[in-house]
Amino acid sequence: NSAAWHEQERRFLEGWGHRKDVASLSRRQLPVVDPNRAAHFLNQADSDWTQAATREQLDEAIADWTPALPPQAGDLDETLDTAVAAAARWSAESITQRSEILHHAGQVMQQRRFESIAEMQQTAKKAIAEADSEISEAIDFARYYAEHYPQYADIVSTSLGVVVITPPWNFPYAIPCGGVLAALMAGNAVILKPAPETTDIAWRMVRQLWEAGVPRDVLQFYPCADGETGKRLITDSRVDAVVLTGAYQTARLFQSWRPSLRLYAETSGKNALVITAQSDRELAVKDLVRSAFGHAGQKCSAASLAIIEAEVYDDPIFQRQLHDAAASLKVGPSTDRTSVVTPLIREPEPALLRALTQLDEGESWLLEPQVSSNDPCNWSPGIRLGVRPGSWFHKTECFGPVLGLMRADNLDQAIEWQNDVDFGLTAGIHTLDEAEYRKWRDSVQAGNLYINRPTTGAIVQRQPFGGWKKSSIGPGSKAGGPNYVSLFARWSDAAGDV
Ligand code: ALA
Repeated sequence: NSAAWHEQERRFLEGWGHRKDVASLSRRQLPVVDPNRAAHFLNQADSDWTQAATREQLDEAIADWTPALPPQAGDLDETLDTAVAAAARWSAESITQRSEILHHAGQVMQQRRFESIAEMQQTAKKAIAEADSEISEAIDFARYYAEHYPQYADIVSTSLGVVVITPPWNFPYAIPCGGVLAALMAGNAVILKPAPETTDIAWRMVRQLWEAGVPRDVLQFYPCADGETGKRLITDSRVDAVVLTGAYQTARLFQSWRPSLRLYAETSGKNALVITAQSDRELAVKDLVRSAFGHAGQKCSAASLAIIEAEVYDDPIFQRQLHDAAASLKVGPSTDRTSVVTPLIREPEPALLRALTQLDEGESWLLEPQVSSNDPCNWSPGIRLGVRPGSWFHKTECFGPVLGLMRADNLDQAIEWQNDVDFGLTAGIHTLDEAEYRKWRDSVQAGNLYINRPTTGAIVQRQPFGGWKKSSIGPGSKAGGPNYVSLFARWSDAAGDV
């Protein structure tokens, strides 16, 4: 039952400390797996692209960039037969051997960081800073899984067999890489079916893993269309598990195709950041803008709502600062290094177009979004005032650069509205009052909680990523967390004497 499960999850996370004192964690020099990532998060200025050496390497990689030219998907039966045979061999390798290859993968990804950034900038429309942190996250996955999993060497019985990874286009490097590495670490053969929009960067990542020593039959690249072939891949009995990061509806579709499917899905979000009267308002503005408009809001973790206590909501200085901060973000192509709000992956779909162009009763624009005259995908940030509880925007995931503001009488009401959505992926609060954040932490229904910081950018090991409610399908273990790799193994505990 889900209440019991949530309680168990809560206790588990409390035990590990992942949900405690997140605000202070993010400000301390805690050991993290990838030092580059630490620099990125703890001191933005240090990892800024103003450092001469970095800028030169990046310039060179961008100048040298050539399209990755991914292959066509081969014959599906052959691919699956190859995977089955490879799984038997790979799972017989020692955990230590697989761990060494993952460590090596982390090194190769670091060496090839700049060409991967160039690829994402050119083909996935990612701003450089967003692309950079993806690579850090992928390296974190490699090092963390490689270091953490070997402790299970004596009790793991076997791997699952063949795992299909179906990642999204919005994190086209880190998310496929995390799924692939977890499944590989546990001894499975993997078939990666990239998102059609970002096949090139997934292909580059696969070649990096091959270069690091992952055998080509153990990790196969299968860039098929989402349609009939995709369905055959998901439903084939030679596939033992599927990892999906994508829309909730896609996960349900997979389940309808194959009810017995072992599916680990991280799905949609409708995330809110609460701002109370006890907050540091300037910090709240900064974090809210980053949470809502980073990668043009195309993150499952993005803040799409701010639920603001009346005293702050009604403060004209707060509104002015929020307006100006969002309006100051440079909108432009990812190839312009100064762009912060880069183009959407495609022209807005109906829900997003509605969110960008249409208001509902009681709403007005604090900042009206505009589409660029050069690119129908490049929209400037929009901020809706007066979003009402239960309204369309309160409940609907839009996945773009639009933020809705709700005016709450008090924290209790804010929490009620924050929880009153189908999803439970990320949630944030800005308050300097300990009693407030404790109350909030104990009532909010979401997997990743952020106190006095942005709601995006979960960090491997320090704060594993995954959600509650309709944001997660499957056992709910979180990527980058202590029990994630073990989802890809079968376990046996033997007792007796020899
Ligand atoms: N893991 C990504 C984040 O935390 C989605 O923003």
